[in-house]
Amino acid sequence: KFAAVILAGGSGTRFWPRSRKASAKQVLALDGEQTMIQQTLERLLPVAAAEDVWVITNNLLDDTIADQLPAVRRERILSEPAARNTAPACALTAFLLEKTEPDTVIGIFPSDQVVKDKARFADILRAGVKIAAKGEAIVVLGITPTRAETGYGYIELGGPVEGPDGVPVHRVKRFTEKPNKHFAQQFFTSGNYRWNGGIFLWSASTLANAIREYCPDMAFQLERIAAAWGTDEFEEVLASHYPLCENISIDYAVLEPRSARGEEASGIYCLPGDFSWNDLGSWAALHEHVAGRDFDEVEECNIFEATDPLHVELDSKGNYVFAPGKVVALVGVENLVIVQTKDALLITTRERSQDVGKVVRKLIEAG
Ligand code: GDD
Ligand code: MG
Repeated sequence: KFAAVILAGGSGTRFWPRSRKASAKQVLALDGEQTMIQQTLERLLPVAAAEDVWVITNNLLDDTIADQLPAVRRERILSEPAARNTAPACALTAFLLEKTEPDTVIGIFPSDQVVKDKARFADILRAGVKIAAKGEAIVVLGITPTRAETGYGYIELGGPVEGPDGVPVHRVKRFTEKPNKHFAQQFFTSGNYRWNGGIFLWSASTLANAIREYCPDMAFQLERIAAAWGTDEFEEVLASHYPLCENISIDYAVLEPRSARGEEASGIYCLPGDFSWNDLGSWAALHEHVAGRDFDEVEECNIFEATDPLHVELDSKGNYVFAPGKVVALVGVENLVIVQTKDALLITTRERSQDVGKVVRKLIEAG
């Protein structure tokens, strides 16, 4: 049995001003008709039954998500009373499912990624589920790095093992979450590292046991919550115990310490994430994705999103514009990101668009 858990509680502040608390990036259609979370569900459905899909989010987004994903059962869209990062969000369903179906393979899926080759994604997922169904195995998907990015986790590949259906599988030597620039450069140059795709597969009992081992206090809180699952007290117990969970990501909580056991003992396996993956982490990343080009090539083209069909480009290139209904003119400007909404206007450069999250922090400070 396979259950898919979609994580959708992040705030996506780097997509300000389109992304707001009640309209975080996962519920926005950033690159077309479907929202990010609709795309996420759609690529899971060849492998997971809709009734086995869970969404972990918050009170501001749950109703929107329920509207956007009518195929998902409403009681499986859970709202955290407080955001506690990804470790408790991933582990919650493990403790819930462990009680009745400990062998269920749980897949964790971020809701902020785009995948072009959906058929390959489904094939890799099926192979991963087979591996995760055995013993205490943990499956991660590794993306071949294209730059020394510090915003991702890195997987150091160990020896090859035979995988199901001809899928190449490696053991994992070491998992390093968000290295500094020095190590990111070293990992990138080495060729033996993959980016962590943020997608994990493990059985309910494997994940719950890992939390018991590495985060015993969190496990205690999640046991209490799981004990109330299916009763009238669930909401109340969730509200009082979930916020007591440690605020930590699953990468730091489980992957790093488990990988320190060493290649053989850790039982972590890496499958290739070779399905044209993009973590839409910034306006610049969206620009590249929509243009279908990488960072250097995108310099040559302007992208106009949702603007009036009439626009003027004079000696301008590499700009990304989102301005619904507006006639836009660009004159002698390069590599700008310009985003206009009803009540806000962002102007930055492609280079600096990673820093847009700081705007939101400043705005919150300013009240
Ligand atoms: N429910 C819930 N609660 N979801 C959350 C929370 C939370 O408190 N925090 C984040 N999420 C969701 C986000 O919406 C996103 O879909 C997913 O969990 C991953 O969180 P990010 O905050 O986007 O993580 P990251 O991008 O910094 O790093 C992770 O993903 C990278 C690949 O995209 C790590 O796993 C890295 O190792 C990985 O390389
Ligand atoms: Mg992310």
